Amino acid sequence: MEQLLQGLRAAGEETRMRLLVLCGHAELTVSELIQILGQSQPRVSRHLKLLCDAGLLDRFQEGSWVYYRLANKSGTSLLARYLVDLVPEDDPVVSRDLERLNTIKQARLDAADDYFRENAKHWNKIRSLHVAEKEVERLILSSVQDMEITDFLDIGTGTGRMLELFGPLSQFAVGVDTSREMLAFARAAIEGADLRNCQVRLGDMYTLPFLNDSQDVVVIHQVLHYADRPKMVIAEAKRVLRKNGRLVLVDFAPHEVETLRTEHAHTQMGFDADQVWSWCEEAGLKRKDFHMLAGDPLNVNIWIAEQSNTDNPSGERE
Ligand SMILES: C[S@@+](CC[C@H](N)C(=O)[O-])C[C@H]1O[C@@H](n2cnc3c(N)ncnc32)[C@H](O)[C@@H]1O
Repeated sequence: MEQLLQGLRAAGEETRMRLLVLCGHAELTVSELIQILGQSQPRVSRHLKLLCDAGLLDRFQEGSWVYYRLANKSGTSLLARYLVDLVPEDDPVVSRDLERLNTIKQARLDAADDYFRENAKHWNKIRSLHVAEKEVERLILSSVQDMEITDFLDIGTGTGRMLELFGPLSQFAVGVDTSREMLAFARAAIEGADLRNCQVRLGDMYTLPFLNDSQDVVVIHQVLHYADRPKMVIAEAKRVLRKNGRLVLVDFAPHEVETLRTEHAHTQMGFDADQVWSWCEEAGLKRKDFHMLAGDPLNVNIWIAEQSNTDNPSGERE
């Protein structure tokens, strides 16, 4: 009761309702919110603090930036979403705020585009060396079709393609990446697709910012070849999986395309299927399924591994 009243008190003011609506549509920094609201920094920061203290907004850091978004897991997160949904979007103040928000989203997209245009040239070249993405995507989606996915994690989310694919099947979906530029691109992509249950976060595949037993499905799609310690990445993915959770791992079979190492920073020249299975089994994951898709000159392997149905014995980490 007290939590509910605190939430209602915090929301009961015009600027704070506007902040809730904005953060219900996108993850925003203080300076972006100041730009939209046209109010001073101390004023906006004070309102944000009240909303965070009441559990209506989440605050999170990405490098030197701090973002705010509508809370999605606290006790008052339902209240936050309910209040935002009650606000008529054709209200003159709200619709002007949302117009300004669109301008900010477009500016972000343009900035991310500049970065991505450069990288996309390389990635498209690499894509042309392996099998059709469509077939890979069909197989990985079918590998989880019998599951109810509450929490989905995409490690090395890049442009957020896996979030677009798995987001609609999950209650919450998060993508992590070590590159802020890629996160900006992925954020713009999920906002463009209006996937409000999806988020992106700065995070490293060796030390994931998640608790033990917190995810139903973890995907590592074309990322493991960047790892100098792939076995540790698999163990870390296993740590965050819930009982009966699944790891979907997609990467190249062993190859000799040397330019991927010299020009594209790949650390591993593909992976032997049995080697990956032995890392999975050492981590405590069981074999569930495997596919090999032949391409020219790169073959793509898909490993589906399953968390055992006993409790995860390792210690907790946030
Ligand atoms: C080929 S790209 C994106 C692949 C993406 N999963 C997809 O399906 O399109 C690989 C991504 O892995 C990210 N990455 C590299 N090292 C990482 C690490 N240690 N932790 C998290 N992400 C990492 C890169 O920044 C890049 O965005």
